[in-house]
Amino acid sequence: MPLGDILISQTEIRRRVEVLGRQIGEAIPPGDLHVIATLKGALFFAVDLVRALGREATLGFITASSYGSGTESSGKVLLHQEDIGEPAGRHLLVVDDIIDTGRTLLAVTESLRAHRPLSVRTAVLIGKPARREAAIEADYVGFTIDDIFVVGYGLDYDEKYRTLPDIHFFSP
Ligand code: PRP
Repeated sequence: MPLGDILISQTEIRRRVEVLGRQIGEAIPPGDLHVIATLKGALFFAVDLVRALGREATLGFITASSYGSGTESSGKVLLHQEDIGEPAGRHLLVVDDIIDTGRTLLAVTESLRAHRPLSVRTAVLIGKPARREAAIEADYVGFTIDDIFVVGYGLDYDEKYRTLPDIHFFSP
């Protein structure tokens, strides 16, 4: 059975996201805040995080994909930016579910800086420092984990298991 036990429960996720959201909402200076969720993985985290910020924020979306299928990155990051909204002159918070090699977060933040935002910050639910290849770290990390494959709460294996409320170990 590839789907393993729960690594991070929905209760732990909820508590951590509430704390993180409040911390981020207070840390970002006053002014327009625009949150950009990187689809699809960040969908669930972003929805919970924006409601914990304690301040008004507008929303945009960027679709980033690098994993064709399976558990290994293909190395290329494809970006679709049709719904990013209006980043110019605003504080940006880029939200992703996981930072693994870091290639996605690097590609997304670099491409958003071209829109001349006031500032760019990044928040991920899961950090996997052992896998980092790109020169980037997230500003806010919910949970740091070892080099293990996990699914649930947005994280997929071959597009499956995103809708699980908890985060599980997974071994294909
Ligand atoms: C996953 C995840 C991150 C990225 C992290 O996205 O959502 O965006 O990989 O990996 P990296 O740090 O090695 O770049 P994926 O490309 O699988 O698309 P998805 O969000 O639709 O699942």
